[in-house]
Amino acid sequence: MTAAPEEGAEVIDFASRRRTTSVAPSEDVPEPELITGKKRTLPTLPSGVGGVVLAAPKACVCCVGRGIKAGGDTWGEWVREKGHRFERAKKTFWWAAGGIVVCSLFAPYGIMAVATVGLIAAVVAGRKVAASPTSPSPDASASPMEEPRPPAPPLSEAPASPMGATPPPPASTAPPPVPQSGRVAVGPPSTSPLVGRTTAVDVWTEAVRWGIDPLGAPVETVLPGNPGLLTGGVSGSGKSVASHQMLCHVALDPHARMWLIDGKMVELVHYQGIAHEYLDEPDLEAFTELVNELDAEMQRRKRAIAGKAVKITGKNWRLYDAPFIMVHIDEAQLYTLQGKEGQRLAQRLALLASQCRALGIFVSVATQRPEDSVVPPLLCNNLVLKLALRSEDASQSNTILGNGMAGRGFRSDRFTADQKGAAYYRGEVGDPIALTTGFLRIPDEDEGGPDHVRDIVKVATELRREAGTLPDEDGRPSREERLEVVSDALEAIDAAGVDRMSRVRLAEAMGWDGDELRTALTTAGVCSPHPMDGVSGRGWYRADLEAVMR
Ligand SMILES: Nc1ncnc2c1ncn2[C@@H]1O[C@H](COP(=O)(O)OP(=O)(O)O)[C@@H](O)[C@H]1O
Ligand SMILES: [Mg+2]
Repeated sequence: MTAAPEEGAEVIDFASRRRTTSVAPSEDVPEPELITGKKRTLPTLPSGVGGVVLAAPKACVCCVGRGIKAGGDTWGEWVREKGHRFERAKKTFWWAAGGIVVCSLFAPYGIMAVATVGLIAAVVAGRKVAASPTSPSPDASASPMEEPRPPAPPLSEAPASPMGATPPPPASTAPPPVPQSGRVAVGPPSTSPLVGRTTAVDVWTEAVRWGIDPLGAPVETVLPGNPGLLTGGVSGSGKSVASHQMLCHVALDPHARMWLIDGKMVELVHYQGIAHEYLDEPDLEAFTELVNELDAEMQRRKRAIAGKAVKITGKNWRLYDAPFIMVHIDEAQLYTLQGKEGQRLAQRLALLASQCRALGIFVSVATQRPEDSVVPPLLCNNLVLKLALRSEDASQSNTILGNGMAGRGFRSDRFTADQKGAAYYRGEVGDPIALTTGFLRIPDEDEGGPDHVRDIVKVATELRREAGTLPDEDGRPSREERLEVVSDALEAIDAAGVDRMSRVRLAEAMGWDGDELRTALTTAGVCSPHPMDGVSGRGWYRADLEAVMR
């Protein structure tokens, strides 16, 4: 060790690039305490050549300390993850036992090799920690024991009122930090931009604004092209308000259709007058029928675009009579937990969700119990967009955001009860982003004041009335009426004892005009007539008609 500098002499700490005045030699310099993370400071390096010589080993020790701590923390999180504890503890035991056996067999070289590899890994991990945005400031890098910089105050605590439309602060380009512990910083409160809007939305091009991230940037998604969304969070975390961002957005597009399934019977009542399908009771039979209808509509769309287009878009949906459909299931556990049939329907929904991306259909599932029994892994995977509001534990958070996310610091169970509307949003690519959803006020029955969702739906109803797309006024015959012609056509094909019939022959057999029959069948969901192998002209196939009837 070099001699201590004189009191008051200027000292240059090469590791931290800081100039300080040296302390009195008599002053107690606390000993570093590696690994424990207690607040200690390493002795300040002396000035001159000694300081330069000591800076490198000091930086190396700091780096190793940080690396060992980071490795320990990551391992701890990994082992403690709920649902995997026993299996991971067992794995750790076998790895450790195996390592000890191998080292003793090849001692002393095995031990030397393991120590070298461990040291290099610790240095690499330590350097990564130092370089990461959540690591202590460069000042702190002088010592692994110094406490990390306190996290930036959560923006959710900004004084702005959720009632007033708070413009988002200017966006920054740096990624938001991933908190490893403590309160998660989320975006500031803001009011949904849909409040007060009187113009129509075009769902094909306009993005839903979910909320604002901690850096003040809006978090948005254009729904078509994405297969679906999974929203999860405990009761009172803000799921309904989050879902209304999307539902109000879709409602304001007069051509978009809403198929709403509301197990709780109260949440989606606002949209009853504009929804094309509406189920407000946990009735599994009715739910099954709706899933069948979704299946039939998807098959119809597939057949309609077969060989002509790759997907349904904002430009071609009119051509295929395929407006955007939003299927939203609130409190999904009320259906999927209804025994084996509920589980079977969840699996079916998962398979449908995996195909709907190109068909202009979007499936959204919300639940207060994000667990495998409610949303089976296949459904979780296929609903690619995720919105994780406050959850009960890391395991629920992982169910929504994906396995391993909790280990990386993205844990929705770290949101606190007062962080209303705090959520992690995960898109198809990239890491989850913490945000606060845009506020939409829905007063309780006995409460006064504005009802934002009701007001938005009023505007939506007007827009739909003008466009002639309100469910009761769009002039479309009911499903039963539409299917009558399909059943007649099937009877005619059966009577002829064939599997397909040309357009002319079928129209003759049914006593219809050829063009009228074509319009009636395609309106009912049957695809356009196919070319007939071996015969000139086009015709109708029994399989296509039967598919619609199913
Ligand atoms: N983004 C938000 N900003 C402010 N308050 C919110 C926000 N989201 C939800 N809240 C409030 O939190 C409470 C619960 O919200 P709600 O959406 O009904 O929860 P859940 O559907 O999860 O039970 C409501 O009083 C609501 O006003
Ligand atoms: Mg709710």
